[in-house]
Amino acid sequence: MPLYDKILILTGAGMSAESGLSTFRDKDGIWSQYNYEEVATPEGYAADPERCLEFYNKRRVMHRDIEPNQAHKALARLEAEYPGEVIIVTQNIDRLHEEGGSKRVIHMHGRIDQALCQSCGQTYDISYKTLNVDSVCPACKCQGQQRPNVVWFGEIPYFLDEIQKELVSCFLFLSIGTSGSVYPAAGFVNLARKAGAHTVELNLEPSDGAVQFHEAHQGKATEIVPAYVDRLMYEAAIARKEVVQ
Ligand code: OAD
Repeated sequence: MPLYDKILILTGAGMSAESGLSTFRDKDGIWSQYNYEEVATPEGYAADPERCLEFYNKRRVMHRDIEPNQAHKALARLEAEYPGEVIIVTQNIDRLHEEGGSKRVIHMHGRIDQALCQSCGQTYDISYKTLNVDSVCPACKCQGQQRPNVVWFGEIPYFLDEIQKELVSCFLFLSIGTSGSVYPAAGFVNLARKAGAHTVELNLEPSDGAVQFHEAHQGKATEIVPAYVDRLMYEAAIARKEVVQ
C-alpha cells in the first residue's frame, strides 16, 4: 500500500448505524416506515408541510442523544495523523463526524441542525429545536417558509463542484456504509477510479456498486473502519521508514 497524497472518504447511513441512527434501506430502515415522497421531496413538503416538518423534528430529537462511534473517531484520527490530506464527503445529515473530531467534512445532503428559508434562501443553525409551519426566518422575518436544510429527492446536492475536484485528484477513494443506490454519490467511485484512484468499499454487505471497487471489506463500521485506518497508518509509517520490518 503506497502513501496516498489525498484520501477522499464517502460516508453513508451505515457509518452512524452503531451510534443508534437507523439506515434508510435496511430491514426496518427509515424508508420502510415512511413514504419518502411524503417527507423527502419538495412536492411532499408542499402537499403537507406539517407532516414533513414533524418527520424531521422527530429525527432531530434522536440526533440530540447520540454519540460518535469508533468508526467516526478512527476517521478523525486518520485526518489528524495521516501524512496526506483526508477529506470526508458525507451523505449523512448528522454531526457525528465533527463531534468525533473530523475537521474537513462536506455535507452534500445538508444538515438536520440547520433550517433553510425558502423565501430568502438563508440557512441558519437551529440546533435541536423544532421547526413548524409558523416558524419565522431570522434574516427576512417571513413566516411559514422554513424547512430543514436537507437535500430532498429531485434536488441537487450541495458542493458538487468542490466534490468533483477532490474526486478527480484523490489517490484513494473509500466508501463507507452506503448502499450505493442514490446518485450522484453512487457514481463517485466511478469518477475517482477513472481518474486513477484506488477504490475501496467498507460496508456491512456488498453495495449495489460493489463491482466498481478494487477492494472490499465487509463487517460493522466500528470494526472494519478502525482496522482499515490502522492498516493505512502502518503502511504510511513503512513508506516513511518509521517502522523496522
Ligand atoms: P442506505 O440505508 O441506503 O444504506 C446503508 C448501508 O449501510 C447499507 O448498504 C448497509 O448494508 C450498510 N450498513 C448498515 N449497518 C452498517 C454498519 N453497522 N456498518 C457498516 N455498514 C452498515 O443509506 P445511504 O446509502 O446513506 O438521502 O443512503 C443514501 C441516501 O439515501 C441518504 O443520504 C438519504 C437516503 O434517502 C436523502 O434523504 C436525500
